[in-house]
Amino acid sequence: MKTKVILLNPKKTSKKELAPAVKLLKRGEIVAFPTETVYGLGANAFDAKAVEKIFKAKGRPQGNPLIVHISNKNQLRKVVSGKISKTAKKLMNKFWPGPLTIVLNKSTEIPCIVTAGLDTVAVRMPSNKIASLLIKECGFPIAAPSANTSSKPSSTHSDHVFEDLNGKIPIIISQPLGCEIGLESTIVDLSGEIPVLLRPGKITLEQLKKIIGKIEIHSSAKGKKIGNKIVKAPGMKYRHYTPKAKIILVTKGDFRKVAARYLKKGKIEVISFSRPAGIKECGRFFIESYYHSGAEYYSKYLFDGFRRSDSLDIDYIIIEAVSEKGIGFAVMNRLRKAAWKII
Ligand code: TXA
Ligand code: MG
Repeated sequence: MKTKVILLNPKKTSKKELAPAVKLLKRGEIVAFPTETVYGLGANAFDAKAVEKIFKAKGRPQGNPLIVHISNKNQLRKVVSGKISKTAKKLMNKFWPGPLTIVLNKSTEIPCIVTAGLDTVAVRMPSNKIASLLIKECGFPIAAPSANTSSKPSSTHSDHVFEDLNGKIPIIISQPLGCEIGLESTIVDLSGEIPVLLRPGKITLEQLKKIIGKIEIHSSAKGKKIGNKIVKAPGMKYRHYTPKAKIILVTKGDFRKVAARYLKKGKIEVISFSRPAGIKECGRFFIESYYHSGAEYYSKYLFDGFRRSDSLDIDYIIIEAVSEKGIGFAVMNRLRKAAWKII
């Protein structure tokens, strides 16, 4: 299959420009598109056969459910069942459209393949104008995981999508700059009595608490690796976010000393916050340093950095941990999951 890339400007995307992608989606094909978090690989959420193509193109295990994307609240009725709680309404009013996914009870119209057999469905209303108009023009919700090969880092640039899915999908809608946020959406499970944070993201725990008060944090949101327990949250059972290089996450001590040690073992990349890497002090060059304004910047470029390390054949990535406040919690969640060693 030949993969076509169409470049669109999210600020002034027209219906006409999106028409080829809409046509494909209506025919039961799959399409990659940008969102404010990461690129998605979408299909008609009501069409089980179309959704199956997503799993095939990504090599995604069938037990891992997808997020259903909507463009307006009317579509929600067809996706979820039962009464929408006050808590859910509060969160939607505050954070939609935006990088928040909410898990609710599923409607019968959503095929089992989308939710991997669960009674619940994850729903999100993206704010990216291309994503939003695409869903609107289709007239149906779009089921979409991140547009990467399973177990590779999520795609934050259309180049990443092309690298993973060229020849496997008919169309990639590309936007000129990378995704605004660069980390996948925050996921909150509202299907039980107490809200549970399943995956941290740009919408922080602090922001959520302000709106809904009590919220539990699922063990996988903390980023700890847990055996093969019930899979309710992403990343518990399936490998995620891993570049080829081994990641050493340094949470204490002098990370430069650790970097110096690994320099003797192979080609390294250093990602640091507190100061410009300082690896020159080790007598060798370093590849990358995100010495900058903190976790926001980290979140935006992390997956891109992981992919670049692959193309540079890096053996070890030494990463300095960040404070778990705000979006730092989400960054550390991804780093812990990707880590080969935590010091
Ligand atoms: O920002 C995002 O969330 C991006 C963009 C494309 O929207 N999507 C994304 O999808 O990251 P994905 O499939 O890579 O991650 C979604 C995660 C899955 O790993 C799955 O475990 C979880 O959401 N999920 C989906 N449905 C669920 C459900 N009913 N209950 C609990 N977790 C669910
Ligand atoms: Mg993913």
